[in-house]
Amino acid sequence: MAPMACSQAYVSILMLLLYSSSFVSGGKLLVVPMDGSHWLSMQSILNQLKKNGHEIVVVAPEINMHIKASDDVYTLKSYPVPFTQEEMDISIKEFGNDNFQELPFLVRFFRAIERMKQTNAMFLAACTHLLYNQELMSYINESKFDALFTDPMMPCGQIVADYFGIPSVFFLRGIPCGFDFEATQCPRPPSYVPRGMTGNSDHMTFAQRVKNLLFHLAEYFLCSFVYSPYASLASEFLQRDLSLTELLSHGSIWLMRMDFVAEYPRPLMPNMIIIGGVNCAWKKPLSQEFEAMVNSSGEHGIVVFSLGSMVSEIPMKKAMEIAEAFGTIPQTVLWRYTGETPPNLAKNTKLVKWLPQNDLLAHPKARAFITHAGSHGVYEGICNAVPMVLMPLFGDQMDNAKRMESRGAGVTLNVVEMTSKDLSDALKAVIYDKKYKENIQRLSALHLDRPIEPLDLAVHWVEFVMKHKGAPHLRPAAHDLNWIQYHSIDVIAFLLAVVLLALFISLKCCLFCCRKCCCKSGRMSKKSKSKSH
Ligand SMILES: *[C@@H]1O[C@H](CO)[C@@H](O)[C@H](O)[C@H]1NC(C)=O
Ligand SMILES: *[C@@H]1O[C@H](CO)[C@@H](O)[C@H](O)[C@H]1NC(C)=O
Repeated sequence: MAPMACSQAYVSILMLLLYSSSFVSGGKLLVVPMDGSHWLSMQSILNQLKKNGHEIVVVAPEINMHIKASDDVYTLKSYPVPFTQEEMDISIKEFGNDNFQELPFLVRFFRAIERMKQTNAMFLAACTHLLYNQELMSYINESKFDALFTDPMMPCGQIVADYFGIPSVFFLRGIPCGFDFEATQCPRPPSYVPRGMTGNSDHMTFAQRVKNLLFHLAEYFLCSFVYSPYASLASEFLQRDLSLTELLSHGSIWLMRMDFVAEYPRPLMPNMIIIGGVNCAWKKPLSQEFEAMVNSSGEHGIVVFSLGSMVSEIPMKKAMEIAEAFGTIPQTVLWRYTGETPPNLAKNTKLVKWLPQNDLLAHPKARAFITHAGSHGVYEGICNAVPMVLMPLFGDQMDNAKRMESRGAGVTLNVVEMTSKDLSDALKAVIYDKKYKENIQRLSALHLDRPIEPLDLAVHWVEFVMKHKGAPHLRPAAHDLNWIQYHSIDVIAFLLAVVLLALFISLKCCLFCCRKCCCKSGRMSKKSKSKSH
């Protein structure tokens, strides 16, 4: 009897193992990426998922920046869009160039909005062409994907997920105007959670808290021109009314590219997983070309300079100022730049069309990193402990730069107003003033001291959603409450009413008693009066 049960248990364990391992190697993942650096950092996760044996299909517009076919990792399914490569390149180039123009604040502001509208119109057109591409949509329907992996900054992926009922995993740094907080029901008191673009830290004076609250109120209007078209598209396509917040609230897991060494401490929800620094995992040895450059830098080492994947050219006047500053330091500067060579370029400066940023920063000879303070760059600076000179251009970059500066790990420069001397001084400061190196080393040590690598964590949660068909157990009931219920205003009103009623009744009782007493005494006095008459 006993051996029998034992062998039965053995068989069932074996079956279970077989079953689970067959799943582990058999998942199907649909990826609807966002282009640019967002896509580049998503790739390390796809590589690992492929190694774990999953089938990956990436859906992307025919015209794009970085999403190229890669048969050994994923299958690329592209769809036609109503714009040309040239139109897209021009739009990106103009977007980049705008950041270098000396214009009054308001003009810059409205121009930025105009550009955002243009770029957004392209993304929106691409999304519409994906949703109404019948061939691709029926392919997705037939393929029976286990999960959909997307960056909700462009909410197209979630519309597809909702349409086919596929559970989704989000991969993001954040969504402008706090949509990520709204859609996860994550609390963010404006008293200590700074709003984007305010330049506030988590310790605010009264005036800063006023600014923070005003920015909070303005957010609802500021982003509506970007996101309300998606809500209309989703409502039309899914044939039911829904807001963007509601659409995004269907995401099962939110993989957040942030870490509290850089971010100010703030609340998180159970379905938010912190994977800041995930892009650092992707290390390769330097190529011969770059190794030779690094070797030839001698004892002074190298400075790495890149303004990100969106900006590779800058106006000649600015380029010459920058080149002049580089001439004043003994380090070898590797500069990612595709524009015309500045005539005053010093011998120590090498222009390259592309550079392996993370691999160069990981080299012990890296002395400083000049970056536009995009989130990838900042985390690569942190994980490799290289002090930074930050030149924020747009989006969340000002906020990232502010965080690094407030932690003493870098110097922020205004790229439009800075002179050649400002840049030279900033570089000398971060290279020779020990406190910058010490601060970034401390941040790096804190960041790297963790029980599990962010890449493994991200891969785990994607597989979790594929295996368990979502994560509804992590969804807070807050989603089912209206504003009044969420803030317990109905309960407070009820309790207040009870208290008021109790007060009213006791008052009435008192009055009644008093009157009785008065009446009695009145009657008595009347009696006594009549007696005396
Ligand atoms: C998906 O395909 C099935 C048939 O296999 C069909 O019944 C269903 O309507 C399709 N769903 C969508 C959303 O197109
Ligand atoms: C660079 O220097 C290292 C160590 O000195 C050496 O092993 C390597 O071969 C050098 N590489 C090149 C390309 O010169």
